[in-house]
Amino acid sequence: MVELNRERMPRHVAIIMDGNGRWAKQHGVPRLAGHRAGMEAMKKIVDHSDKLGIKYLTVYAFSTENWKRSMEEVSGIFKLLVVFVNRDLKELVDNNVRVEVLGDYSMIPEDSKEALERTLARTKDDTGLQFNIALNYGGRDEIRRSVEQIARRAANGEIKPEDVTEDMIGQGLWTGSEHAYSPDPELIIRTSGEERLSNFMLWQGAYSEFVFSDVLWPDFTPDEFEKCIAEYQSRDRRFGGR
Ligand code: FPP
Repeated sequence: MVELNRERMPRHVAIIMDGNGRWAKQHGVPRLAGHRAGMEAMKKIVDHSDKLGIKYLTVYAFSTENWKRSMEEVSGIFKLLVVFVNRDLKELVDNNVRVEVLGDYSMIPEDSKEALERTLARTKDDTGLQFNIALNYGGRDEIRRSVEQIARRAANGEIKPEDVTEDMIGQGLWTGSEHAYSPDPELIIRTSGEERLSNFMLWQGAYSEFVFSDVLWPDFTPDEFEKCIAEYQSRDRRFGGR
């Protein structure tokens, strides 16, 4: 067990949950069984984040690029969302967790959308951990959307092009919206040994610390999570200063 400094807990941790497919292959089971195991790992990390006093947890559940996967895999991942909600919504409410979505989920299957909206509605007044599910999320996509809004305001004459600020761009991102507001993540974790950002939190990650774990996501435990946080706490963050 690692010793964590409670005074230096990251407020916002974002996770690229990678390796479900490789885990499935290792265990000789279908890819979807890997995602199912990934869902169980995710649930434990939500619970543990709450216990550690982390205020915001974001997980990369489905990217704008993930639609390229087989129909079977895509619809299977969305079905897991229904399974997750049906099984765990009550516990999330009991634990005061507020669920938010980062991404345009208007085109996901109807039953998943219904489950998601039920979750958002039931947890919207919760004041504990904010659990952001990045769904149909792409970093470039959200920056493009924000820029489009600003360009409209400039075209309407509401603002001048030279008035555009970084804050305005940030406010137009999913993490800048009123209900899903989240500060920039101090820590971004990626599992499975891959060391890429894959279009995740491009704007918000400007000063994030990156911690890469070799563990495949379904094997990622609260213990492993604490090791990543300890690694983060050992770093000296300077934000470009000295
Ligand atoms: C990456 O592993 C994982 C995903 C693209 C999906 C993540 C989904 C879950 C953890 C399911 C539960 C989510 C919710 C919100 C209920 P990969 O398939 O790219 O792994 P590989 O690189 O080993 O093939």
